[in-house]
Amino acid sequence: MIGDWLDIGPVDQIAPGHARTLPVRGGEEIAVFRTLNSEFHAIVNQCPHKQGPLSQGIVHGGVVTCPLHGWNISLKTGEALGDDEGCVPVIPLRVDAGRIYLLRSAVIGKRATAA
Ligand code: FES
Repeated sequence: MIGDWLDIGPVDQIAPGHARTLPVRGGEEIAVFRTLNSEFHAIVNQCPHKQGPLSQGIVHGGVVTCPLHGWNISLKTGEALGDDEGCVPVIPLRVDAGRIYLLRSAVIGKRATAA
């Protein structure tokens, strides 16, 4: 699978309930999450509040709690939940044959090249 999708490696590289970061040269770092139900999501690794590193937050359900001030961010929509307002960009992701792919244009569209 090449072309539109960027292969970022096997699903096993991320334990359930954890995340890994993907540096993007000249762009914003991406965080790829695996929920406890082994669903995968990718968002820009910056909290919409004060740019906290969401990859270091606690994953519960389809939500990550920011490690800095506790905002809850939907991994599916990137939106802050509850009374908080803000949104972080979501990167389209698919899993195929045990590997994780990100939509290349969503990564490169940030005028950057995946590192
Ligand atoms: S930076 Fe994430 S809650 Fe404040």
